[in-house]
Amino acid sequence: MDPSKPVYSDALGRPSASQSVVYALPADAKAENYRLNVQHDMLKVLVGGLYIVPDLVKKALDPAQRGKRCGVLDVGTGSGIWSVKAEPSLLRLASYASLWARAVEMAKEFPDADVVGMDLVNPVNLTEIPPNCRFEIGDAGLDWSRYAGAFDVVHMRSVSTGIKDFKAVLHNVAQTLRSQGVILLVSPTAWVYSETKESLHDRDQDKPGWSAMAALNEAIRHATLKRGGASATVTDHWAGWLAETPFYTNVGEREFWIPIGPWKEGLDESERAAAELLRQSAIEVLSYFKPKLLAGGFDEDLVDRWSLAAKKELQTMEPRLYMLWKFTWATRTPEP
Ligand SMILES: C[S@@+](CC[C@H](N)C(=O)[O-])C[C@H]1O[C@@H](n2cnc3c(N)ncnc32)[C@H](O)[C@@H]1O
Repeated sequence: MDPSKPVYSDALGRPSASQSVVYALPADAKAENYRLNVQHDMLKVLVGGLYIVPDLVKKALDPAQRGKRCGVLDVGTGSGIWSVKAEPSLLRLASYASLWARAVEMAKEFPDADVVGMDLVNPVNLTEIPPNCRFEIGDAGLDWSRYAGAFDVVHMRSVSTGIKDFKAVLHNVAQTLRSQGVILLVSPTAWVYSETKESLHDRDQDKPGWSAMAALNEAIRHATLKRGGASATVTDHWAGWLAETPFYTNVGEREFWIPIGPWKEGLDESERAAAELLRQSAIEVLSYFKPKLLAGGFDEDLVDRWSLAAKKELQTMEPRLYMLWKFTWATRTPEP
């Protein structure tokens, strides 16, 4: 496929390599890139870097051990920030200068690896692309044969709702990874949770503890399913699916409860920063919900009321809310 010639448009009119119309949020809007970059900062603060299992990743990307130049694939690369350092926003620089200064994005951290960012659309706003990084248009739900045996690390973050058959994709990633290569899966889980970590997705509006943010999140999940996308509940199956195939070993999983906003007592500096960045990212995401919800058949008045109420919740941090992010990983079994 010639990446410079997208052949389809998706439901939002974006140029796309395929007819994949299941992804529910825009990937090429400037503001969406900003949100993704804030979220990226939040996740980096959370795990102290670009990936959660440094020993496995560094071993997989050590050319001396691997005996050849290594490869990294970032599936659903979005703004491309995980693959290559993007233009930092003024706000991010002002608020989190010390964290940003610690940042070493993937292509820079591993100059001896070739990093490929793949997405339905090309990233925008990248000011500097190192020679060891490139971007390709592709649909993870389609053919992976061009990537067979080509990579040592495959990273997939927040792409689960854009992929109908995630189990099949895990199989395709296994064919893509070289022996001892690492798969890194990262995603928020499906729900928004209360201060006591109860899911609020089915809480009645007239019951205490109801949250407009949780209601909107659940509405988006339904709208995504309606347009043929997948539910974020797929994250519940990742570790089991990886463990049940002979292609993967060292399966691991870690969960992070992140307060939406620094309302919780006793947070350390990093946890506080992550909570605030999550709050900023949640405020940004509200503006994308409306068109998706109207397309999904939701009533406009209701969506407007909930959006206004959700913004107030995020600004006041009342009710106190959590999100749960999941990091799952495994290594490719050695070839027989
Ligand atoms: C929420 S963004 C996450 C971007 C990036 N991974 C990050 O964490 O910052 C999801 C991205 O996945 C892309 N995407 C969704 N479904 C996809 C698919 N089937 N194949 C390739 N990319 C996909 C979208 O276009 C979007 O850029």
